[in-house]
Amino acid sequence: MFRRLVSGELCILRWRHSQSSKCLRLLSCNSVIGPDRGQDLSREERTVPTELVRLVHTNTRIGPADDTFVSSRAGKQKRVCKVILDRFDQQYGQELGPLWPSARAVLLNPVCWQYGVMLNRFAAVSEVKQRLQGQGFVSLLPHTDLPLNSSLSQPHPTSPTQPSSIPHPTSPTQPSSIPHPGPPPPSLQCFIHPSPVRYPSPPHRQGQLKPYYLMNAASLLPVLALGVEEGDRVLDLCSAPGGKALAILQTADPARLCCNEMDPHRRDWLAKTLESFIPQWLSSTVTVSNQDGRIFGQSEAGMYDKVLLDAPCSNDRSWLFSGPGGEQHGAVRLRERARLPTLQTQLLRSALAALRPGGVAVYSTCTMSRSENQEVVEAVLNTCPGVELQDLEEELALPLQEHFTFTPLGHTPSLGLLVVPQQGQTWGPMFLSRIKRIR
Ligand SMILES: C[S@@+](CC[C@H](N)C(=O)[O-])C[C@H]1O[C@@H](n2cnc3c(N)ncnc32)[C@H](O)[C@@H]1O
Repeated sequence: MFRRLVSGELCILRWRHSQSSKCLRLLSCNSVIGPDRGQDLSREERTVPTELVRLVHTNTRIGPADDTFVSSRAGKQKRVCKVILDRFDQQYGQELGPLWPSARAVLLNPVCWQYGVMLNRFAAVSEVKQRLQGQGFVSLLPHTDLPLNSSLSQPHPTSPTQPSSIPHPTSPTQPSSIPHPGPPPPSLQCFIHPSPVRYPSPPHRQGQLKPYYLMNAASLLPVLALGVEEGDRVLDLCSAPGGKALAILQTADPARLCCNEMDPHRRDWLAKTLESFIPQWLSSTVTVSNQDGRIFGQSEAGMYDKVLLDAPCSNDRSWLFSGPGGEQHGAVRLRERARLPTLQTQLLRSALAALRPGGVAVYSTCTMSRSENQEVVEAVLNTCPGVELQDLEEELALPLQEHFTFTPLGHTPSLGLLVVPQQGQTWGPMFLSRIKRIR
């Protein structure tokens, strides 16, 4: 189905399943406008044969004996990109101090990586849930045993024009401490396992929505920080392949969710993700657009209650391993990396421009690099009038510190939360920061 957005941009919404050969190319997609994060597992890991998924309950070493080759979950050897590893050693040794050696060991040992299973509230999931629980998976979020597949699978009437209630105004210079908003929405359910158990990818069944999505559980944090409420107008500025858009739709029924992605191949991937997980009756709510995120905010200024900017970034997990170009590819990536903060700053300014006064934007990346995280947020706070940083420690980090390793908390103002992968808590890397537009 094709339709146009108010702005006149072409909007593609394809609810029919079509076998596209393009999706194969996405596996190794390295777009010129931003590197592939490849963190969530919708497609990359579908290439792993299901029987290998049983590799799981192994005695995992904390790291490889040498740093040249490591074993992947599929039993293949992955070559470590030395030029990237050397840079990370230099930079993260300084920036993360004692957390770096253990994070390094996890990143270099794919066999120990854990996976989260996010249930799809629009599909039949009771059996999957039972199976997960039987295998020792536990709920990541502190709630729930709500009956799934009941009223949640039905259309929900919303009020598209009514703005959502946003926490109280605070001083623009300090992060505001907002009251704890209560437990996460019960409709969002994600299961994790203490061991690196890899649940198989959901099979495609003609005419049925997929019941779950495999992901790095840290990817839920930006969505939780966004706090979408019923009737919100939401923009996911850099949306492909769509994992966080799906998570947003698990948390509430927005009046509108615009999923924007500039890269055409990744946009196809995004459309496919949506059609595999989201029912057709949501097609008037969820749109896919193809604008350059750097100018989106100006073209739809003030039109959104919530904006997620899950920015293109250096992907610490996948960049450590050489692509087909080997070390040379690593050198190219490092040059690309130097340009990322400028792109990220432009995108974040645009995200803030798209917000109505009182709305909030969440900035996230899957790198631990200070120049792509804290420094981007700082640059934007220093140059954008009428915005303020919000504190996420009390609301997110403290309740979830049993599952995630956050860099030392309590440094105020912290500019955001950083999740650092550690043995037994291999989630991340993930940085997130929340900014409110006050005028
Ligand atoms: C980290 S990925 C987003 C992952 C996604 N949020 C998810 O959870 O599945 C960043 C995306 O930004 C896209 N991108 C890069 N530059 C962009 C731009 N100028 N405008 C819009 N999207 C852009 C990339 O193609 C990539 O798909």
